[in-house]
Amino acid sequence: MPNDQFSIGTVLDPTVTRLALAGLRATPKTLPPQLFYDEEGCRLFYRITGLPEYYLTRTEWSLLSGIALRIATAVPTGAVLVEYGASHEAKAARLLAARDRSGARVFASYVAIDVAAPALQAMRTRLAITSPDVAVHIIVGDFEQPVTLPESLAGRPRLGFFPGSTIGNLDPAAAQRFLELARDELGAGSQLLLGVDLRKPAAAVVPAYDDAAGVTAAFNRNLLVRLNREAGADFEPFNFAHRAVWNDVEGRIEMHLVSRCDQVVRIAGESIAFVEGETIHTENSYKFTPDAIRALAESAGWTLRDRWFDEARRYGMFLLAAC
Ligand code: AVJ
Repeated sequence: MPNDQFSIGTVLDPTVTRLALAGLRATPKTLPPQLFYDEEGCRLFYRITGLPEYYLTRTEWSLLSGIALRIATAVPTGAVLVEYGASHEAKAARLLAARDRSGARVFASYVAIDVAAPALQAMRTRLAITSPDVAVHIIVGDFEQPVTLPESLAGRPRLGFFPGSTIGNLDPAAAQRFLELARDELGAGSQLLLGVDLRKPAAAVVPAYDDAAGVTAAFNRNLLVRLNREAGADFEPFNFAHRAVWNDVEGRIEMHLVSRCDQVVRIAGESIAFVEGETIHTENSYKFTPDAIRALAESAGWTLRDRWFDEARRYGMFLLAAC
C-alpha cells in the first residue's frame, strides 16, 4: 500500500516521550540511560563491548569463566538464575552450563529482565536451541521497578545476576534501592552475583567511553535519533558533540551531548532551546572501591560472601548472600 511509507517510523512511544520531556525541561538537561537501548542502541552497545578501549566486558568475561564452577557449587541444584539488565545471554550461559556431580544442570530456569524487548526475544530464541532443557522466562521492564517472578518458580533457590557494572548507571541512593528491591524479590536464602568496574585513575577510564573508532559517540547520539522517531523530535544529531568526562568528586564517568551552537529543537510539539556549549547529561557510570561495594551491599540487606578481582584490579565480581 502506497500510504505505508508515511506511517513507517512515526509510531510515537508515550513512555519514551514522557521520559525525554521530563529530562529536557530540567536544568541542567538530562536523558535517562535506559533510553539508549533501542535496537540500534543494543547493536552499538554490543560493538562497544568488543572495542580495545572498553576493558569492562572482556575482563568480566575472563573473571566469570574462572569462577563459574565455584559459583555453581555455592548454589543448590534446581536453582533459578535471575538476570537484571539482560541484553545478551553470553554471560548467563557461562553459569547456565554448570552441572552438579550427578550431571544435572545446577540452574533449571533462567529469568531475564530488560527494557529491550527485541533483544530478549532474540535471546530466548537462541537459548531454546543451545539449552533446550532450561526454562527461560523473559520480563520486559525496567529493573528499578518491582517485578513479579513467575509463580511456577516459587520456593526455588535463587541466584540474582547483575553483571556489566550496570549498577554504575545508578546514583548511590538508587543503587541502594535496587539492591533492597532485589533482596525482596529474590528472598531469604538467595544470593546475588554483582559485576563491578573498580575505581582507577581517570586516564584508564576515559578512553573506554571515548573510543578512537567513535562507536561510543554514535551510541550517545543514537539517543537523539531515537527521540526523533519515538518522541516526535527534530534533533540534528551532528549538532551535538559527544563528551566523556571523569568526575573525581562523585567517582564517576559522565557522558554528555554538547550543543555545538544556539539551537531550538521541537519535541512532541514543544520547543526546547539550547545555547552553544550547553549539555544534555546522558549517563553516569560510577566506579567503586571494594569497600564501597561491601558498605552498599550491607546497607541493603546483603552480606559479602566472596569476591574476585582480575590481576590488574580493574574489575571485580562480588557474591552477596541475603541476610
Ligand atoms: C552497560 C551501563 C555498564 O556504563 O559502561 C558503555 C554502558 N556507556 N559505554 C557502561 C556504556 C558507554 C555501560 N553499562
